[in-house]
Amino acid sequence: MLNTAMAHLDAIKDQLRQHNHSYYILDDPSIPDAEYDRLMQQLLVIESVHPQWVTADSPSQRVGDKPLEGFQQVTHALPMLSLDNAFDGDDLREFDRRVRERLSKHSDRAIEDPIIYACEPKLDGIAVSLTYENGLLVTAATRGDGSRGEDITQNMRTLDSVPLCLLGKGWPATLEVRGEVYMPSAGFEALNTKLAAKGLKTYVNPRNTAAGSLRQLDSKITAQRPLELCAYSIGLVSDDNTLPQQHFDILHQLQVWGFKINAEMRRVQGIEACLDYYQTLASRRTHLAYEIDGIVFKVDQLELQERLGFVARAPRWAIAHKFPAQEEMTGLLKVDFQVGRTGAVTPVARLEPVFVGGVTVSNATLHNMDEIQRLDLHLGDTVIVRRAGDVIPKVVQVVLERRPASAEAIQTPTTCPICEGPVEREEGEAALRCVNGLSCGAQIVQAIKHFVSRKAMDIDGLGEKQVQALVETGKIKHVADLYALDHAVLAAMERMGEKSASNLLSALHKSKSTSLAKFLFSLGIREVGEATARSLAMHYGRLTNIKVADIESLLAVEDVGPIVANRILHFFADHDTLTIIDELQRAGVHWPEFDPVEVQSHQQNLPFKGFSFVVTGTLSSLSRDELKSQLQELGAKVASSVSKKTDYLVAGEKAGSKLIKAQDLQVTVLDESQALSLVANALEQVSKFNQVVE
Ligand code: IVH
Repeated sequence: MLNTAMAHLDAIKDQLRQHNHSYYILDDPSIPDAEYDRLMQQLLVIESVHPQWVTADSPSQRVGDKPLEGFQQVTHALPMLSLDNAFDGDDLREFDRRVRERLSKHSDRAIEDPIIYACEPKLDGIAVSLTYENGLLVTAATRGDGSRGEDITQNMRTLDSVPLCLLGKGWPATLEVRGEVYMPSAGFEALNTKLAAKGLKTYVNPRNTAAGSLRQLDSKITAQRPLELCAYSIGLVSDDNTLPQQHFDILHQLQVWGFKINAEMRRVQGIEACLDYYQTLASRRTHLAYEIDGIVFKVDQLELQERLGFVARAPRWAIAHKFPAQEEMTGLLKVDFQVGRTGAVTPVARLEPVFVGGVTVSNATLHNMDEIQRLDLHLGDTVIVRRAGDVIPKVVQVVLERRPASAEAIQTPTTCPICEGPVEREEGEAALRCVNGLSCGAQIVQAIKHFVSRKAMDIDGLGEKQVQALVETGKIKHVADLYALDHAVLAAMERMGEKSASNLLSALHKSKSTSLAKFLFSLGIREVGEATARSLAMHYGRLTNIKVADIESLLAVEDVGPIVANRILHFFADHDTLTIIDELQRAGVHWPEFDPVEVQSHQQNLPFKGFSFVVTGTLSSLSRDELKSQLQELGAKVASSVSKKTDYLVAGEKAGSKLIKAQDLQVTVLDESQALSLVANALEQVSKFNQVVE
């Protein structure tokens, strides 16, 4: 029994050592952090039950590993510790209880109750230590194994947020500042876009990228990377120190001396306030400009910190409350290929369901065959799935050491998985495309689904299954056939019935009266979304003008660039397409048309021209989409996310993160009734032209 437990302990230690090596030395973690944390947790539990089994070389005694060869080594004057983790509110309350218990036991003084805590986001980057002598930066080092790190002074000097000499005055002769180097999300995305454009391997996440960037032997490379330093504590300080006696105040002093500190940092009383802080930050997590993997809570009073002291690897006065992991490990079951409206054949990973980023994920996009190759993905592989915020889940890495011998390479399809027609890859494009166009069942189904969708012709009552059935049985070959469907055919369909058939027919009838913008959008021209369709409608006023427009004319339309212009030209040059449009018009589809000159001058004078709105939350007297189209009719740009460019945020009930972001950015916030009266006033100023774009 004991032997098995010991063998289990050894196995866990081995795994942790291996992962430490991948993480700290190779900057290439082989498993997600959450998996690592779980292993470490298991180790700590076993070691706490059998303290006699704790060996000096156990990973619990030394988190991290040897520094890389190639950099000078630096011995930290004071060890750089790590933090204990809390995974839920109970863990956190337990931490607070331990703190208070310990303080009251070892003291003749009354314990401060509630405890004052400093709350800080736990930045997901690399810990560094910077030593200043007489105000000048002399050494910068990585954390390494906690006692010895690597000398990265040259590299750290390249970061704008690292003061080369301290500002102001009053700093101690020796001051060691500790903090996290991280790469803001926008910089990370931009870097990956650049790498991908050059056909180079992209980075998995901002943390690894920051680590890789700091580990460059050539500091010119580091200098080009968008890295930032945020200070979060001090290390060695000389005797002449006149630093404040509270952690929170020390960080503000560091700010005065030229360091960036985290703007979200707060000082609160008691552990319940810490939990509130955690909730608030958790809800804003995806809107922060950088990645965080939890919140760090620190006892604010230095005197109390000293009394609490340390255990092997972590202080007793601080804890990291981790967020749910954004990366998890799971099995790749198979890869399916889906065909979209434009014929793009997209691989989709079918995964063993896994809980990641707050939801259960069983599918992840693989984008295209290049991505499969880049990942070196095989059937049967164990993969790391990442779901950060609302972003769709992504396979970011294969865990190579878990690849079974039976793993099979993924074959590039040579024919369309739906119509079995040929697939090809257009010059300069990553996607494989089925060339059968509207004679490929999948593409017709998608085209029809798009045509009937709410923002297009808004024909309610036709689901994907029904469209599929109509296409498969040959009842419809293209969108115009929809208007020839009769009651008998529809009523005989599965899951339809008399009533639904009648409803569908009246929806079809109603849809015939539309706007030019919606009609254009519903045609599903590649690259022409709702906004471009509106711009085209406003610019040309009449369909005939668009049909005959040449490239120069198209390029003059707002938001239309060469790629879009060519797609439009190509679309209207197709004989079959023109026939379908004629058929639709003969079936009675119509919209008001206008003289373009008149429309354009009207558009220029719209009351909300030049204003950008975002609408969020639940509205009581109309839907968000209704309000959005009213705003657009009045000339406003309606965006989906709040930025510095937003002029107004309309916030309905239960507005969440967008409202918080708007408040942060000091964007004017309107409630529903304020927004409606603004719209009503503006509507008075405008006239008949509304119908052109509806
Ligand atoms: S304090 C003795 N504060 O988290 C306390 N650490 O697991 C030392 N980290 O190695 C750390 N943000 O890289 C502290 N606001 C913060 C932090 C933070 C990120 C990292 C740091 C450390 C790790 C601990």
